Amino acid sequence: MLSPKMLQALNDQINAELYSSYLYLAMAARCEALDLPGAAHWLRLQSKEEHEHAMKFFQYVNERRGEVKLQAIKEPPCSWNKLCQLFEDVLAHEQYISKRINDLVKLARDENDYATENFLQWFVKEQVEEEATVDAVIKRLRLVGEMPQGLFFIDRELGQRS
Ligand SMILES: [Fe+2]
Ligand SMILES: [Fe+2]
Repeated sequence: MLSPKMLQALNDQINAELYSSYLYLAMAARCEALDLPGAAHWLRLQSKEEHEHAMKFFQYVNERRGEVKLQAIKEPPCSWNKLCQLFEDVLAHEQYISKRINDLVKLARDENDYATENFLQWFVKEQVEEEATVDAVIKRLRLVGEMPQGLFFIDRELGQRS
């Protein structure tokens, strides 16, 4: 059985992952509007991954015989005009999610919930990867700055994500 505190925290995380999915979908829409189809493709896949993260929590809560309670997903921003700035926001968001995952691990330990602590390890590892991937994109974007040619190549590269 999940403790009420743990159940609440896992339900909150389902919301945070669904918000991540919604945020990246908003970013994909923005990239389409900015004529950056490759980045839009990358973000659509990112959005799909976040939905899968939410479903991992969803399934886990059910396995532990907890009840999933879905909450309202807040409206994401849509004001990005530069790809570099958009990816800086992706990184900031992933850092925020990493902190949330760490807090969940801490709570699982405090509650002596070793099964949840173990379940969360996949996310601990995933967050390291997520931050590193986005950081690499930002470094390349910084390198090309405002050069349209450079941006064109990075966009094409982002479009190759499978
Ligand atoms: Fe996630
Ligand atoms: Fe993520």
